[in-house]
Amino acid sequence: MSGVMQTEELKRLFCEKFGGGGEIRCFFAPGRVNLIGEHTDYNGGHVFPCALTMGTWGVGRRRDDRRLRLYSVNVPQQGVVECSLDELVYDARDGWTNYVKGVCRALEQRGGVLPAGMDVLIYGNLPGGAGLSSSAALEVLAGLMARELLGLPGISLTDLALIGQQAENEFCGMHCGIMDQFASAMGRRGCAIFLDTNTLEYKHVDIHLQGVRIVLVNSRVKHSLVNSAYNERRRQCEEALADLRRVRKIGSLGELSGAEFEELQDAIRDETCRRRARHAVYENQRTLRAVEALEAGDLPAFGRLLNESHVSLRDDYETSCPETDLLAELAWETPGVLGSRITGGGFGGCTVSLVEEESLALFREQVLGGYRRRTGREAELYVAEAGDGAREIL
Ligand code: GLA
Repeated sequence: MSGVMQTEELKRLFCEKFGGGGEIRCFFAPGRVNLIGEHTDYNGGHVFPCALTMGTWGVGRRRDDRRLRLYSVNVPQQGVVECSLDELVYDARDGWTNYVKGVCRALEQRGGVLPAGMDVLIYGNLPGGAGLSSSAALEVLAGLMARELLGLPGISLTDLALIGQQAENEFCGMHCGIMDQFASAMGRRGCAIFLDTNTLEYKHVDIHLQGVRIVLVNSRVKHSLVNSAYNERRRQCEEALADLRRVRKIGSLGELSGAEFEELQDAIRDETCRRRARHAVYENQRTLRAVEALEAGDLPAFGRLLNESHVSLRDDYETSCPETDLLAELAWETPGVLGSRITGGGFGGCTVSLVEEESLALFREQVLGGYRRRTGREAELYVAEAGDGAREIL
């Protein structure tokens, strides 16, 4: 993937595709990396993601009619995809534009008919399928563009996150939680977001980590049926919760402490569902402890919790895979690594590691080299910068 394109260049491409004139504006929404709190967001637990400086840019202009005309610099072979706001239907052949259509539909369900259509050109520098939320970035971007270009009143950044999630859930059929869209909308430079997904209360936590960097390694594998495996995990957690409710009045798995889970777990009849619930409960507890450790400046403790999170995702939640297990193990064996785990929805994608600055070169050599030797694949490494959330680029 090529580097960041200048907004002037994107505007020039926009005029080439859609013609000049009118008010043309540029927006950006970031991807995210989740530091800890995996598969807790649809279980009423806590998450701790940060927005990245990588993401998706959109150049757009309001139209006089009710048409959407959409073009991606990343998928030029698809050309301009066109549809009417009166026919917003999911069509697999329309690829990425389904996210934009889904957001427009969610906006209409929320606030009534949209006043006009838009011409939109997008460009992204997030690796697709890497678990860094390129789809959430696109959803939040589409919502922000509609709000700004069409002058929609009374929509906050939190609303944009919820609208993006609704599009993903209802239009695209992926029953994700709120984490990705929330991080994309609410990111802050140099900070991660400690979010209670039950109440949507959050706070930004400074993650300038004395001499330690957040490193992403993309396995560049994406196993098939990710969405259905994800939706299945969600169903299993719901089944576990339903069983627990027969013996205790609880709202979500996120309400339970480890000790409470141990006491109640026999109520969960299915062994697989019990393991899924165990992950959700303990991962939430780990997230609370991780934020405490970070705020106390105890990075080794934070790192150990990342490792525990990986083991739980590997053994209990089963959303890791051999390639991401290997990346985490190679990281664990490398001196100067405080912790490493798979990040995001899983079944491929990236690991996130905390690496001491002076060990970065060694990390690159051992992890990428070891991965190449053992799998024959080239992994990709990014040193992450925590960036701001969705915004207009002036
Ligand atoms: C995906 C989903 C999120 C969250 C993560 C797992 O990224 O979109 O809502 O559930 O998986 O933590």
